[in-house]
Amino acid sequence: MAGVNPMLAGVLAISCCYSLYLAVAQTTDPTEVNALRAIRNSLVDPMGNLHTWNSGDPCTSYWVGIVCNSSANDHYLHVQELFLLNLNLSGYLAHELGLLSHLKILDVMWNNISGSIPKEIGNITSLELLLLSGNQLSGSLPAELGYLSNLKRMQIDQNHISASIPESFASLNRVVHLHMNNNSLSGQIPQELSRLKCLLHLLLDNNNLSGFLPSELSKLPILQILQLDNNNFSGNTIPDSYVNMTELRKLRLRNCSLQGRMPDLSMIPQLTYIDLSWNQLEGSIPANKLSDNMTTIDLSNNFLGGSIPSNLTSLPSLQRLSLENNILSGPVPAFIWRNTSLSGNKTLILNFQNNSLTEFSDVLNLPANVTVLLFGNKICANGSQASKFKLCQPQIIPLEFGNSTNSDEYRDSCPTNLGNEYNQSSPILGSCVFPVGVGFRLKSPGFSYFHTYEDDFKLSLPFRAYQLHIDSYAWEEGPRLRMSLKIYPNNSKPFNDMEIQGIEEKFRMWQITLPSIFGPYELLSLRSPVQDSPTANRVTKLAAAGIVLGAVTGAIVMSVVITVFIMRKLSRNQVSKRHSGQTSPIKIDGVKWFSFEEMALATNNFSSSNQIGEGGYGQVYKGILVDGTHAAIKRARQGSLQGSKEFLTEIMLLSRLHHRNLVTLIGYCDEECEQMLIYEFMPNGTLRDHLSAGSKAAMNFSRRLQIAAGSARGILYLHTEANPPIFHRDIKTSNILLDSKFAAKVADFGLSKLAPIPDAEGTAPDDVLTAVKGTPGYLDPEYFRTNILSDTSDVYSLGVVFLELVTGMLPISNGKNIVREVNHACQSGKMFSMIDSRMDSYSMECVKKFMSLARKCCRDEMKMRPSMSEVVRELEVIWEMNSESDTDTNTDTTTSHSFSLNSVLHDPVTTSSFHITTKPYIRFDDNSGETPTSLNPVRCLPIRR
Ligand SMILES: *[C@@H]1O[C@H](CO)[C@@H](O)[C@H](O)[C@H]1NC(C)=O
Ligand SMILES: *[C@@H]1O[C@H](CO)[C@@H](O)[C@H](O)[C@H]1NC(C)=O
Ligand SMILES: *[C@@H]1O[C@H](CO)[C@@H](O)[C@H](O)[C@H]1NC(C)=O
Ligand SMILES: *[C@@H]1O[C@H](CO)[C@@H](O)[C@H](O)[C@H]1NC(C)=O
Ligand SMILES: *[C@@H]1O[C@H](CO)[C@@H](O)[C@H](O)[C@H]1NC(C)=O
Repeated sequence: MAGVNPMLAGVLAISCCYSLYLAVAQTTDPTEVNALRAIRNSLVDPMGNLHTWNSGDPCTSYWVGIVCNSSANDHYLHVQELFLLNLNLSGYLAHELGLLSHLKILDVMWNNISGSIPKEIGNITSLELLLLSGNQLSGSLPAELGYLSNLKRMQIDQNHISASIPESFASLNRVVHLHMNNNSLSGQIPQELSRLKCLLHLLLDNNNLSGFLPSELSKLPILQILQLDNNNFSGNTIPDSYVNMTELRKLRLRNCSLQGRMPDLSMIPQLTYIDLSWNQLEGSIPANKLSDNMTTIDLSNNFLGGSIPSNLTSLPSLQRLSLENNILSGPVPAFIWRNTSLSGNKTLILNFQNNSLTEFSDVLNLPANVTVLLFGNKICANGSQASKFKLCQPQIIPLEFGNSTNSDEYRDSCPTNLGNEYNQSSPILGSCVFPVGVGFRLKSPGFSYFHTYEDDFKLSLPFRAYQLHIDSYAWEEGPRLRMSLKIYPNNSKPFNDMEIQGIEEKFRMWQITLPSIFGPYELLSLRSPVQDSPTANRVTKLAAAGIVLGAVTGAIVMSVVITVFIMRKLSRNQVSKRHSGQTSPIKIDGVKWFSFEEMALATNNFSSSNQIGEGGYGQVYKGILVDGTHAAIKRARQGSLQGSKEFLTEIMLLSRLHHRNLVTLIGYCDEECEQMLIYEFMPNGTLRDHLSAGSKAAMNFSRRLQIAAGSARGILYLHTEANPPIFHRDIKTSNILLDSKFAAKVADFGLSKLAPIPDAEGTAPDDVLTAVKGTPGYLDPEYFRTNILSDTSDVYSLGVVFLELVTGMLPISNGKNIVREVNHACQSGKMFSMIDSRMDSYSMECVKKFMSLARKCCRDEMKMRPSMSEVVRELEVIWEMNSESDTDTNTDTTTSHSFSLNSVLHDPVTTSSFHITTKPYIRFDDNSGETPTSLNPVRCLPIRR
């Protein structure tokens, strides 16, 4: 094969996305190693949090807070993330930071680092998050930071940074969040910032900024929060153009020395929060009605005159209106709380103290949850009706006090000295676990009182699979809302490392999208159930494990890529170059490449009426391709984009798999920051749809059995025929699709991991250590505990699917686990009560056998479960028994014989060199005391229901 090498080099040069050396040499780029050493030497680490940085290789020896990735262009690992949040570090930031040329995230928040921001950070063009909040940094902002063309988030708030904002920041084309509040910035706000087309939140409050407010800021097309309070724009006015900021939610100009009139903000449709207090605004309050979303209006401490517009009476979401210390006159509009929804505990505070108001006619009608403050008005003159009531007393506006609902009721049984806690929100009484503790802060919330929004807030956090508890919250200067969150596992089993990592990542990578009313958030601290090792350490270990696996996968993908390329080169002497994006031009036989335009066309521009599903990965659309083919198009959500490597892995895998019980991949799209997979369309949707209570026609037992066998056959193919073998890892009823004849097809290989490959002697490890992924309720408990994945983890998930098929239940409902419920019912002789009552007629014996098989699949211990081929064989037995008993009862002609059991086994299982042979043989006798089943076909007795 001497001729291959130059060609290989050529292929590598063309593909330039993967390195063949990945699996061979895994060390960190030496330049970066030296840079990290310099960074370490300039930091002071009193707690020894960086002790792992003293030896070994950063990427492969688990240095704290370092996450690496392999590179497209060389064979080194590169530091992609530096995560040193809240580690008690002081010292300064070394200029060698600029040498971490692959860095995407630089996070040193909440330490005591001083000195200035090294200008060399501006050299890291890959940087996406620059997070320096909460340190002692001083000096000026380097203009070089403006070169960070990929930066999405700059948080330098709560430091001592001075001098002016560089005009070069106008080049931060992608920046969404610019948080520079609570520093000592001075000078004029550059009007050039109006070029930041992606800017959502501009926080510049609590600085020494001066000059005028640039009217050009109104050109920021999506700006939602403009927060400039506590600066000194002495003598200047609020630009008229600001009334045109159509996306604005929050405008804070408190204590800015502003003069002139208050702008009419009624044209801003979603405005929720205005604070213009402590200025010298004069004239009257505009009479037009503000947005229905207004929660807070603070115009206090100005020189506003005239009367209170009656339109302030019709704001349904209002929580707080403060007009204190102005020169308002006339009456308080009648029923000023009219139209405000006061349901539940909603609070409404109307503060009119120290004006010249003359009348308040509704004294006696005041609802209990409305507070009106009238002290210092003419209304309260001695002898008036109002003066007899408390509302004329000088009062301090009630603050909202955070709840703290820790109950000690079950504490006794909980060994809290180990850091465990009783989980108050758990449906399982007395469950005692160590929660993940998160210090969390809303930096600029759009409301004044949280309790109305607390439920929305909880629902917006992506932790439905767990129990989320707001331990306490408190308002802080700003106002900002600080909270202590606790996240508990959904059952009494402690979190495993991967789950914790998943939770942490959501916070520290800003993967949580909150409704705009909550504004930006920040992570203050993380406390994880592993006590002896700091958070970052564990993150690094896991990340490193990911790298090793990634490298192996990468090498396999690469070898396939190379093979494909070489074969194409030999046969056609050309390499397809159809790609317009930066990704490598890869043509995979049997899989079509589609452009983004073609996909937009097929799905009616991804219209919501074409959407047929949604998963963690993104949305699924129904589409019609140019040739008329119906297709299901799986579009990765922005932010959940896989690396090209994972994406290509999935395509490579799928393109080589052909089986009637697997969904076929038609093509893919990978351009313009979009990743899509195009599958054959399955007209009958997911199995879950047909089992849910809402489904129109309940399926009979034969059809359910047919689906069970089809799914098992598809998975058996993945385990034994795919080369290398594949563990699915996310088998669930929503991943089993049904074609027009209700034949089952297994879908979604997004979580697939290649199974271990036999070594030279032909032996293979039985299992592979890997990241726990999957869906709660379907997760193999042993895999969950140990992170060790084996083919029987898929057996477990499939067993859960079988249980759903026979019971119609969800894997987890109301905190109850289907496996536990069924086992419990069977052991107490109530198996019959579990059977889906919507199944028409069936043979009791067959259903029993099926149930018993399902339960064996769901045994806690891997070794006690049958292998996939045994599952398929047993289903054959049940099928034959069922067909014999079924001939006279089955009225559904579409199912009965479209399926032949021989076809279940038509794929030989012997080609696998490790799968079957290394498994201990498991007999199908049930040790739970049920009738032993036999592998000989037995005629089942039909019963009618
Ligand atoms: C940063 O880039 C500039 C050129 O833009 C170069 O002169 C300088 O040496 C670089 N600094 C570092 C630390 O790489
Ligand atoms: C607001 O925008 C409209 C339309 O673009 C424009 O005609 C108007 O002059 C703007 N108002 C201000 C005060 O800039
Ligand atoms: C209240 O607001 C509406 C809509 O902005 C406006 O048409 C109306 O004139 C206002 N009412 C008063 C009394 O000013
Ligand atoms: C404003 O109110 C509407 C209707 O209640 C709601 O759909 C929208 O989400 C709200 N906007 C904000 C920013 O809260
Ligand atoms: C109202 O507040 C009380 C105590 O502050 C609380 O117990 C209750 O659950 C709240 N009700 C609603 C609907 O929020």
